[in-house]
Amino acid sequence: MEDERVASPELTQLDHDIELSLRPKTLGEYIGQEKAKRNLAVYIEAARGRGEALDHVLLYGPPGLGKTTLAGIIAHEMGVSFRVTSGPAIEKPGDLAALLTNLGEGDVLFIDEIHRLSRAVEEVLYPAMEDNVLDIIIGKGPSARSIRLDLPRFTLVGATTRAGQLSAPLRDRFGVILRLELYTPEQLGTIVRRSAGILDIGIDREGALELASRSRGTPRIANRLLKRARDFAQVLGSGTITCESAQTALRSMDIDELGLDLIDRRLLQVMIEHYSGGPVGVETLAAAIGEESVTIEDVYEPYLMQIGFLGRTPRGRVATPAAYHHLGIRMPQTDNCQLAFE
Ligand code: ADE
Repeated sequence: MEDERVASPELTQLDHDIELSLRPKTLGEYIGQEKAKRNLAVYIEAARGRGEALDHVLLYGPPGLGKTTLAGIIAHEMGVSFRVTSGPAIEKPGDLAALLTNLGEGDVLFIDEIHRLSRAVEEVLYPAMEDNVLDIIIGKGPSARSIRLDLPRFTLVGATTRAGQLSAPLRDRFGVILRLELYTPEQLGTIVRRSAGILDIGIDREGALELASRSRGTPRIANRLLKRARDFAQVLGSGTITCESAQTALRSMDIDELGLDLIDRRLLQVMIEHYSGGPVGVETLAAAIGEESVTIEDVYEPYLMQIGFLGRTPRGRVATPAAYHHLGIRMPQTDNCQLAFE
């Protein structure tokens, strides 16, 4: 179901191929995330000046914001090789040992979804990150012994959707922690025009801004909408994406003026119509709309909170008056007498 959702920020195989061709290689080419870029530029220049590997970097934020891209840029700017893996792909300590022993001096090892590493694998990672050594246990039982191998200096770049999911000992071993923010429509408009240039897609300024303002602050969604809007412009229009042809495409894909799709709207509708606008627990919401609670937390909520449609309270999620207004549902009048007794 997730794969079919045009407005999902999660990665599909097709996105992967497109993203590879669109990925900026330098900090100068990377649009937005100004604060993270500014700080990274200093850390990179300083590490290079001292002839050292860059300190370990943790990137966190919602999916689709360019964490892998930024990790690749770090490697490029440091002039080292870039190795990519993910938490779920490293099943055993031996898998991590193989990756670490194959690194070159100063290389960047990128671990996506780093919060999904097992405890046993994390234990191997700690001394590697801290002292550049690998402790391997040989044998079992009373005859087991540990040998220590020296590793090249390396930079671990970890990515996660939520830093809070990381174990404290792992989080503490990152010298640089950067939070990526949702992009503004203007930044996404620039990204859309850059991507259109690379993919040779005709689009005017208004068309780019229309797609950008409905991409939920996420470059991955903006690039996906660009490709779909090209299809509509080619078949039903002049071939160039204009504001009008972009609107036709978005309407056909059930994406509204704010970039919300059917699932976003269903989530808000369920909160309002079944739970009086909340507070309602995320697990209850997940069951009601047939999604996993982590998907609600990582994929749907960040944008709904950013546009002020949903709030998180200790007692659960609440829909705001703006959400009622957007869905065209009247808010129940507050009963003053009842309030007085609450
Ligand atoms: N493509 C995806 N994210 C990007 C970014 N932040 N800058 C430039 N191109 C991108």
